[in-house]
Amino acid sequence: MILKDKNVIVGVTASISAYKACELVRALQKDGATVRVALTPRAREFVGEMTFKALTGEEVLWDWRSGKTSLEHIYWARWADAFAIAPVSANTLAKLRFGMADNFLTTLALAYDKPIVLAPAMNTKMFENVATQENLKALSERGHIIVDPACGELACGEEGAGKLADVEDIKTAILYAIFEKPLKGKKVLITAGGTREFFDPIRYISNNSSGKLGHELAKWAYILGADKVYLVSAPTCERKPYCVERYTVNSADEMYQKVMEFVDDVDVIIMNAAVADFKPTSYSSKKLKKDSQELTITLEPNVDILNELGKRKKEGQILIGFAAETEDLEKNAVQKLKKKNLDAIVANKTEVFSSDVFSGKIIFKDGSILEIPPIPKDEAAYRILKEIFSKIR
Ligand code: CTP
Repeated sequence: MILKDKNVIVGVTASISAYKACELVRALQKDGATVRVALTPRAREFVGEMTFKALTGEEVLWDWRSGKTSLEHIYWARWADAFAIAPVSANTLAKLRFGMADNFLTTLALAYDKPIVLAPAMNTKMFENVATQENLKALSERGHIIVDPACGELACGEEGAGKLADVEDIKTAILYAIFEKPLKGKKVLITAGGTREFFDPIRYISNNSSGKLGHELAKWAYILGADKVYLVSAPTCERKPYCVERYTVNSADEMYQKVMEFVDDVDVIIMNAAVADFKPTSYSSKKLKKDSQELTITLEPNVDILNELGKRKKEGQILIGFAAETEDLEKNAVQKLKKKNLDAIVANKTEVFSSDVFSGKIIFKDGSILEIPPIPKDEAAYRILKEIFSKIR
């Protein structure tokens, strides 16, 4: 429950995508947040206050008279750890830019003294209009967090930018607004997933790594303030985390080449990928036929990417490895930490590979060990980064 004890206000303006605010409310509650909703008077024509009241169990406000006192905008602003307006219309953006306070939501925005997450949704022409773009630029320069709309088919039938961003991405921006920034000033490279070693056009040797923890680590590296996050991933079903640059590769050799492109540019490298230790010695460009009774595939060792990174580690660079073990977890992990010249290694049992839950140990170069109890992988990613960067600065 990453948002346990956190209070979040979701503001909703008049847009056809107002119904998606219900999903956002649920997503925040799933992570433990207490959520309140503030509507503009016209937003009520799209989704009524009863819906949000039922979802949140909290009072829903849309004008001053709807609150218990005439100071609710001040009390709400003090109460909130984060404030997102999703969807935010062109009209409300213009009001926010000029500090207008003509309804409960805009007044609350004026009383709120931290960055607001703004997720616009509107017709493409309205979004691209110079007025809207200038408003967004001004609000971004003031420190507000803009979650760009997605491209696609809009309710008006036109195609283009203007669809409300994905709820997951808006939630990530809200987490960004809440959490401390121990990774500020750092460029981070993370690898994820199980590499695929092909021996014909459709068949390969791999492992059952889901890539989930690696993707969560990349997401949290952004939330915790990294200036840039590169994610080099083997193919997975995970969606690209918000504000992360992702590159998909197949084999260990491809992963090695991609990692080497970034190695001199980054301050932190986290090798979470389950890299195949061996690859087939030969590759058939034609699909192998089942015309013989037996098929033998010979394997040869792959490059050990982390070992290479350890050899060429530059001054001040932080190198983190993972160790997946079936037995002697600590002993094997310590050996890998030393052999590969790491600052820390995260050791886990192989059971966590295709699970949504992670548990393991972080072992540091100085011998100290930190246990991570079984927790969902998004929380584990936060814990791993937080613990490592409170120890290694
Ligand atoms: N690793 C790597 N390149 C490889 C194999 C592993 O970079 N060819 C990295 C992994 O990303 C991980 C660490 O090395 O961060 C340890 O991986 P693991 O599979 O646990 O151990 P190995 O070093 O491969 O040793 P073994 O398979 O014998 O346990």
